[in-house]
Amino acid sequence: MMKTFKIAVYPGDGIGGEVTDQAVRVLQRVQDQSGGFALELTHLPWGAAYWDETGRVVPDDFLEILRGFDAILLGAIGEPRRIPDHVTLEPLIRIRQTFDQYACVRPSRLYPGVRSPLAVPGASKVDLVVVRENSEGEYVNNGGRFKVGEPEEFALQTAIHTRKGIERILRFGFELARKRRKRLTMATKSNAQRYGFVLWDEVLEELRGEYGDVEADKQHIDAAVMNFVRRPETFDVVVGSNLFGDILTDIGGLVGGGLGLAPSANINPERKAPSLFEPVHGSAPDIAGQGIANPVATILGAAMMLEWLGLEAEAERIRRAVAATLVRGIGTPDLGGTLKTAEMADAVINELKDD
Ligand code: NAD
Ligand code: IPM
Ligand code: MN
Repeated sequence: MMKTFKIAVYPGDGIGGEVTDQAVRVLQRVQDQSGGFALELTHLPWGAAYWDETGRVVPDDFLEILRGFDAILLGAIGEPRRIPDHVTLEPLIRIRQTFDQYACVRPSRLYPGVRSPLAVPGASKVDLVVVRENSEGEYVNNGGRFKVGEPEEFALQTAIHTRKGIERILRFGFELARKRRKRLTMATKSNAQRYGFVLWDEVLEELRGEYGDVEADKQHIDAAVMNFVRRPETFDVVVGSNLFGDILTDIGGLVGGGLGLAPSANINPERKAPSLFEPVHGSAPDIAGQGIANPVATILGAAMMLEWLGLEAEAERIRRAVAATLVRGIGTPDLGGTLKTAEMADAVINELKDD
């Protein structure tokens, strides 16, 4: 029997729709070529347009709706000129936390043919994966505003780092490092954050012995971002808290050739709820509507989705097509090229080979 997967396509705002349209074309081509699986796509028209109609960015039961799918493919959310970001983006954070997508996996590698913005000797050898803790840390909805509008106004924002949360993400990172170059770097800030990140440091020390085959070290986040620029080739797997992982993956995306190429998988490793796949980038209001956004980050996100669904060969076929396209030195304006969004996807589709 043919395997059928129910996929929620959530394009979102700005360039979100532009890039998901192209990723869907790639997925459809791979499906036609393979003949061994079927994707049943459902488009969810949520975001700023939905806000204009209803005063909400998603329906009240959005989590129940999403729970019924095998996976979610997201474009990008955010219409910062009209709607506050903490309103528009709240559903994304709730999806990650409610579905316990605690492992956010963000690979970054400089494909041959792509120019690095860096001038350091290791610039061409970037091949790293940031594993971001995605369920707690600095992103828990915990805090408040007090004496609003008064001179004594204050805001309280509390981070929550649990032993269980730190341990499971570090284990995820160690297991991934074992399949790669066996190096793990943990981002910390225990020199100043004396509770949360001291706990992170302690859990790393406790686990180190179990993963003796992996070379593990830690760097304070300020040094780590500098080293992403100074010697990016030294990183293999990098594990960080929610906020540190967020910061590391914009810089990681950049050293891998730009945000237009950087995918992201928000994984619930236990498969008790759907996982979500997206680009690292946002809705890019500065270029939205011009048809020039790079669709590759979302295409590679779609490949991560296929891999998660057990379609490894199909995922690899997409990655090879992307590599074959980039090695030609062509691309959208962010890569220094002249292609439009759809032309970039055409180029990738032309490189999709039957096995
Ligand atoms: P951004 O990632 O949208 O854009 C940063 C820069 O990168 C911009 O100059 C943009 O043009 C460029 N860029 C991004 N993606 C590109 C692509 N595919 N091709 C070519 N260039 C690309 O970050 P921002 O401007 O800080 O945020 C814009 C909005 O997106 C905000 O509302 C923000 O909150 C939101 N956001 C959403 C997500 C998400 O949905 N997961 C992620 C990040 C930011
Ligand atoms: C990302 C984004 C989100 C995050 C924002 C938009 C809430 O920057 O996916 O990297 O901080 O996680
Ligand atoms: Mn981010």
